[in-house]
Amino acid sequence: MSYTTLLTHLENNILTITINRPDKLNALNRDVFTDLSNVVDEIENTAEIKSAIIIGSGTKAFVAGADITEFNSLNLEEAKALSKRGQDIFFKIENCGKPIIACVNGFALGGGCELAMSCHFRLASDNAKFGQPEVNLGLIPGYGGTQRLAQLIGKGRAIELLISANMIDANSALNYGLVNYVTTQEELLPKAIAILTNINTKAPIAIANCIKTTNAIFDETKNGFEEEINAFGNCFETLDMKEGTTAFLEKRKAVFVGK
Ligand code: COA
Repeated sequence: MSYTTLLTHLENNILTITINRPDKLNALNRDVFTDLSNVVDEIENTAEIKSAIIIGSGTKAFVAGADITEFNSLNLEEAKALSKRGQDIFFKIENCGKPIIACVNGFALGGGCELAMSCHFRLASDNAKFGQPEVNLGLIPGYGGTQRLAQLIGKGRAIELLISANMIDANSALNYGLVNYVTTQEELLPKAIAILTNINTKAPIAIANCIKTTNAIFDETKNGFEEEINAFGNCFETLDMKEGTTAFLEKRKAVFVGK
């Protein structure tokens, strides 16, 4: 597929998605939202894609937020619709059955931090900066940021970041549990690719079930323990479970087919 605001590159079953508005620090406008929604469909529907990386173009920013130029003229209903659209797309990323990880290579502010938080986990380069500066604009995060920030770093730290508009650096983000790894700028993509290359050797249906059941913790309409029972049971109906257990007993490496 082709996108107006994204560059994509598929290699070794990993789709690298680069948000490509460097002159606007990759700010999220309507076109980026449309492209992000479509690229998640591409990930879900393309067998050759086993996992994906989202990164920002250039060396300065992952994403510096929602595109503020689109905010000025919105009325109440339009603003709520924009918030709902952003939330829906970030839920789509969060609920994707294939791993999508964020490589935060600079500013991840506002919607950029929210996008990174909707990914399954995050890596940061040592120049990364995270923050939710919306209160500087008389706003609050609208794409799930108030919820996911507290889920990831705890309520006290989340509220401080939200109401101070302070930015934190990559090492603080690591201490807070907001990112899993900090690397140099050069090592960021190679590290992400190494992590996903390993993950891509595991059973795809089991991976999708791990994501689904873990997400259930944060969904009030679901009982995560029930989800786990059902998902665990369903694994026993897959060829991959037979292959994984047989390969272990035969002391060989399993080859999974995602069925
Ligand atoms: N929306 C729209 N445009 C943005 C943007 C955003 N969120 N963030 C940056 N840009 C644009 C700037 O307007 C500028 O465009 P111009 O060259 O046409 O004037 C360009 O990106 C470069 O940004 P600039 O501010 O000149 O870079 P900087 O290095 O001085 O500052 C930031 C970097 C990230 C600190 C600063 O751009 C910033 O504060 N951005 C907004 C962050 C924010 O509030 N995000 C939450 C939005 S809800």
